[in-house]
Amino acid sequence: MSDVLEIVDLHAEIEGKEILKGINLRLEKGELHALMGPNGSGKSTLAHVIMGDKRYKITKGAIFFNGLDITNLNTDERSKLGLFLTFQNPIELSGVKLFTFLRTAYSVHFPNDNKTFQEFITFVQSKAKLLNMDTSLLSRNVNEGFSGGEKKKSEILQMALLKPKFAIVDEIDSGLDVDALEAVAKSLKETIYTEPKMGSLLITHYMRILKYLSPDKVHVLMNGKIVMSGDYGLALKIEEKGYEWIKEKN
Ligand SMILES: Nc1ncnc2c1ncn2[C@@H]1O[C@H](COP(=O)(O)OP(=O)(O)O)[C@@H](O)[C@H]1O
Ligand SMILES: [Mg+2]
Repeated sequence: MSDVLEIVDLHAEIEGKEILKGINLRLEKGELHALMGPNGSGKSTLAHVIMGDKRYKITKGAIFFNGLDITNLNTDERSKLGLFLTFQNPIELSGVKLFTFLRTAYSVHFPNDNKTFQEFITFVQSKAKLLNMDTSLLSRNVNEGFSGGEKKKSEILQMALLKPKFAIVDEIDSGLDVDALEAVAKSLKETIYTEPKMGSLLITHYMRILKYLSPDKVHVLMNGKIVMSGDYGLALKIEEKGYEWIKEKN
């Protein structure tokens, strides 16, 4: 049976303010779903809640991973099960080299993997090259002084190494110029679609990244609820008409 991530009637609040107001979503491994919506609709909140960010309080509903209720698991446990989130604003880690960071993350995920140091270097470099990433970034501090596109690629590289079952990709297109966007989208596609395929929830405000990735489904989040779901045609319609017309129907 294929892996399934299922969100059932999820309500969550932060500092007493309800942000998610009953989210239902089912994502199967190998599927790419896009989650679109205006700023402030709760997209990043949903991403953080799926990963178990303790700043948010779940007041109702549940999250299941292959039928297992993970609503109360901590982030580490979710990550070991195969969930991964790329951040909208990747953090800088001064004093930590990207290579060291990746090696640590990898060994936590795959404690029984017996690659030698040299084999691990070769492995990381081959993945970086596949993503058309400048391998000199590996010996620099995580994200420090990286361009927008380089930061996003370093997130994708981490994802490519850890090979999660489900990836939640939060506005990886934000702040990128057209060329960087194309490069990042292609790297993402390579990573998501290389066998075994991941399931992914691609969060975006704009249509432009979806042109490269052709999602199986598109959902629109507004004011903490999924108000419309459809196929790629829905994303095209949003590009043409914006979000107002959807608001009017609800
Ligand atoms: N730490 C916080 N304290 C209070 N409100 C917050 C906090 N973080 C997010 N919010 C509010 O939650 C709502 C949803 O934000 P967010 O999930 O970031 O939206 P999106 O990613 O769709 O732009 C916004 O109204 C935002 O102001
Ligand atoms: Mg956001």
